Amino acid sequence: MVPGAEPFEPITVGIAIGAASALTGYLSYPDFYCRFVECCREEQPVNASALKLDLEEKLFGQHLAREVILKALTGFGNNRNPKKPLTLSLHGWAGTGKNFVSQIVAENLHPKGLKSNFVHLFVSTLHFPHEQEIKLYQEQLQKWIRGNVSACARSVFIFDEMDKLHRGLIDAIKPFLDYYEQVDGISYRKAIFIFLSNAGGDLITRMALDFWRAGKKREDIQLKDLESVLSLGVFNNKNSGLWHSGLIDKSLIDYFVPFLPLEYRHVKMCVRAEMKSRGFTIDEEVVTKVADEMTFFPKEEKIYSDKGCKTVQTRLDFY
Ligand SMILES: *[C@@H]1O[C@H](CO)[C@@H](O)[C@H](O)[C@H]1NC(C)=O
Ligand SMILES: *[C@@H]1O[C@H](CO)[C@@H](O)[C@H](O)[C@H]1NC(C)=O
Repeated sequence: MVPGAEPFEPITVGIAIGAASALTGYLSYPDFYCRFVECCREEQPVNASALKLDLEEKLFGQHLAREVILKALTGFGNNRNPKKPLTLSLHGWAGTGKNFVSQIVAENLHPKGLKSNFVHLFVSTLHFPHEQEIKLYQEQLQKWIRGNVSACARSVFIFDEMDKLHRGLIDAIKPFLDYYEQVDGISYRKAIFIFLSNAGGDLITRMALDFWRAGKKREDIQLKDLESVLSLGVFNNKNSGLWHSGLIDKSLIDYFVPFLPLEYRHVKMCVRAEMKSRGFTIDEEVVTKVADEMTFFPKEEKIYSDKGCKTVQTRLDFY
């Protein structure tokens, strides 16, 4: 026996555990610890009803996005052994809810959402501004993703403004998105990658408009109507951030999620939700005023809000 390394007496240990349990109300050690320090809970299932509720209460006019996100995230989050990381590419005009959805996804995986240590947001024009620095950015990005995924397998990476990302940059992360069991000893299979882009917004709007002009309901647009149009459109669009990208080529993107342009009634819903979240009672007069201030297109029919719900918050400050 090594001097000084005497084992603890069983009684002392028993008392210590008893005291700890009494303090914590019989929480297990991780539960206790994770109340104070953010923990990466990579095995925690995704609460499908909470996610569904979030999407229903906060996201308007997006029946396709709602359906895909719910299916993708609960399927992935409750699979203990995914074969590749989850990769979502969200498309649509500004203000249609892409940022919102990525926030909801983040919060349903890590309660602190965008403030979590395990959620990483990259904005093209902010983090990767200079075209001549692409090599450096690629190395940085690989290092960050490697570092963060080794700290938490269920890390979330959000790439905003994909359409402003320099060509080829995104292919640096291709090895992480593939079906490999491990890359240099690290498994990326539980990570989540979300790409946000305006690219394809024109294609989505055209389809929505076709439906509208044919007198069909918006809710009748189906994912299969749009998914292939989108992936092809984005692949062939030089300014999509995914132009001729290996990510599409090799089918590494699991879901293309279309965000439809928002109508007058959806803008009103956004205003009501914003009022509610600020703790005001809903005043329909103000709701109408704010919605009326938005501009709508196309010129003749004026169906869709130019900026979606994007400026609703600042406009509401006025009243
Ligand atoms: C899941 O979410 C619902 C709705 O927010 C909540 O009532 C329920 O307790 C949650 N379930 C678990 C296991 O956390
Ligand atoms: C994780 O990513 C952030 C960028 O969001 C980066 O600053 C940080 O260095 C990364 N952590 C590791 C351990 O690589």
